[in-house]
Amino acid sequence: MSGVQDKVIVITGAGGGLGRAYAHFLADNGACVVVNDLGGARDGTGYSTSMADAVVEEIRAAGGQAVPNYSSVATPEGAAEIIDTALSHFGAIHGVVNNAGILRDTTFHKMTEDEWDAVIKVHLYGSYHVTRAAWPHFREQQFGRVVVATSTTGLYGNFGQANYGAAKLGLVGLINTLAIEGAKYNITANAVAPLARTRMTEDVAPKELLETLDPTLVAPAVGYLMSTENQDTGSVFVVGGGLVQRVAVFQNDGVRFDSAPSLAEITSRWAEISDMSGAKPGRNPVG
Ligand code: NAI
Repeated sequence: MSGVQDKVIVITGAGGGLGRAYAHFLADNGACVVVNDLGGARDGTGYSTSMADAVVEEIRAAGGQAVPNYSSVATPEGAAEIIDTALSHFGAIHGVVNNAGILRDTTFHKMTEDEWDAVIKVHLYGSYHVTRAAWPHFREQQFGRVVVATSTTGLYGNFGQANYGAAKLGLVGLINTLAIEGAKYNITANAVAPLARTRMTEDVAPKELLETLDPTLVAPAVGYLMSTENQDTGSVFVVGGGLVQRVAVFQNDGVRFDSAPSLAEITSRWAEISDMSGAKPGRNPVG
């Protein structure tokens, strides 16, 4: 079976925005989708079943296969319920798109423990819990597809988003190791940094830019990464407005010291140490 035909795929946070576009695209291409969403506000407060239900109804009306789930990704119990929904309704789990997310933007100087924790819990712990619950099934059936939602904030930084950026780059660290550990089980793990007009971005970017960033333009790349054809793993893609780009960590040749340099010696070589002209893709020297 090629593509995502008959693959059972969980999309977290699929009651709106990008997740809804992913769910539609995957269902349109023959996947059986679990539409997870706890139906809260942008900051993660509140609860409703209506968002997930609405997307499931849309998919079914279009002839696709979908089932709702309203659990929070932020707890191991919620994640287990999400994967159980896939297993009990469709009899399998082949892929997870870890898309659920919230914002608690504020400057680092003003950030409270609660604002830090809430964002890390949904993005980083949420992706961990849901992927962890699916992982034994992936290993057993020798097939699994994982996508995490990273962000250009994690890759490059953004004012007022220290909590969000830390969570988002943490997810790249997660898929780097999942790619290594999953390789022999035909499990791939990749990250997508989307750019799209949703309730999350409606007031953070200029209107003219947002008009070019329909969420449906991100979905095909996520669909490909969930497919049987995809063999790419441990990669990061920036996707939005019709552009699909790969992003990677590079390293330069560096400067080698035969013994520990003095402060003056390292200071005098620092411009060379920092210079990235001629840098090549980085690799783990002990991996
Ligand atoms: P959105 O706010 O429309 O979607 C997020 C969804 O996650 C919401 O429907 C929300 O109810 C759900 N959700 C929140 N907490 C949850 C929880 N604990 N359990 C289950 N569901 C939960 O925002 P958008 O833009 O669609 O974001 C989707 C993902 O893409 C997020 O991870 C976001 O950080 C990421 N992203 C989006 C960008 C964009 O340009 N829109 C840019 C970079 C990253």
